[in-house]
Amino acid sequence: TVPLILDVDTGIDDSLALLYLLASPEAEILTVASTAGNVPAAQVAANNLAWLDLCGRPDIEVTLGSPVPLTDPLRTTEDTHGPQGIGYAQLPASDRTVSERSSAQAWVDVARSRPGEVTGLVTGPLTNLALALRIEPALPTLLRRLVVMGGAFHHPGNTTPKSEWNISVDPEAAQEVFDAFSVAPPDRLPVICPLDVTETIEMRPEHLRRLAEVAGSTPDELITETDPPGTRSLADNPVIRHLSDAIRFYLEFHRDQGEGFLAHMHDPFAAALALDPTLAQTRPATVDVELVGTLTRGCTVADWRGMWGREPNAEVAVGADPHAFFERLIDRVGRFAAR
Ligand code: BDR
Ligand code: CA
Repeated sequence: TVPLILDVDTGIDDSLALLYLLASPEAEILTVASTAGNVPAAQVAANNLAWLDLCGRPDIEVTLGSPVPLTDPLRTTEDTHGPQGIGYAQLPASDRTVSERSSAQAWVDVARSRPGEVTGLVTGPLTNLALALRIEPALPTLLRRLVVMGGAFHHPGNTTPKSEWNISVDPEAAQEVFDAFSVAPPDRLPVICPLDVTETIEMRPEHLRRLAEVAGSTPDELITETDPPGTRSLADNPVIRHLSDAIRFYLEFHRDQGEGFLAHMHDPFAAALALDPTLAQTRPATVDVELVGTLTRGCTVADWRGMWGREPNAEVAVGADPHAFFERLIDRVGRFAAR
């Protein structure tokens, strides 16, 4: 099994990442941290609790993270993810509350409880992990692996021309994390999964239709581009219905950005990579975050050639097989929804 700490800013694609992990038999989710990002941390926590309840996993702890990044005021992106961060989905609110410990403390406690065993997966800004490192600087050796969705190297940014959202929201946190993990052993360097790879993972309505099919849900045709914006899913399977209502918003957002009726699966791909490192090709690099540039703040800069004279502090994903990923996603999430 792969014991996991998740740290998410749920988020439409974070939602599907969570579902993918819940659907994966080898994943053992130990705790879910809620980071301020796509929407405020309290809304992220509410979304996490609601998805876990819907999926019959009220046993999984959800913690509340810092309401603000280390330095900057919080920016959120309801335009991308909907007013509550889950597109058009209206999940039944959970009657559970968040855990008493903070997200940062949960990182520390959980990593210490199983030294060398736990994989950390961050699909939001790195605020909580940076705060956890201030409590326990040995986290890079206590964790087995760290996978971070974030950054853009050769690829343009999605938040500013040079920066990707998760890094852009809290560049100081990202730099603190990348610095701290430079002590990780070479075979356990953090894996950074940037836009260069995640923007090649394009979910289309066809994938959703197949998901519904595997789940045995009606109707088959859930989403077409000609439906009026906001058309709600009629699927009888609740997981498929809520997921479709979330993803439709994301499809419309990408279309309105001129990218086509598709949605980039940033976080689900990072989740899959956390379970199976063979899903992406990676290259070692020394990665720093630009903190001062007026045009480039939040940009991830990789030294691929040792020009800075420092050892690599990350394995950067540089290529992936979207087809293999989608086959696995459809099979796992579809069968999970069918239970
Ligand atoms: C990242 O930004 C967020 O909006 C998504 O959830 C993803 O984690 C992609 O840049
Ligand atoms: Ca995210």
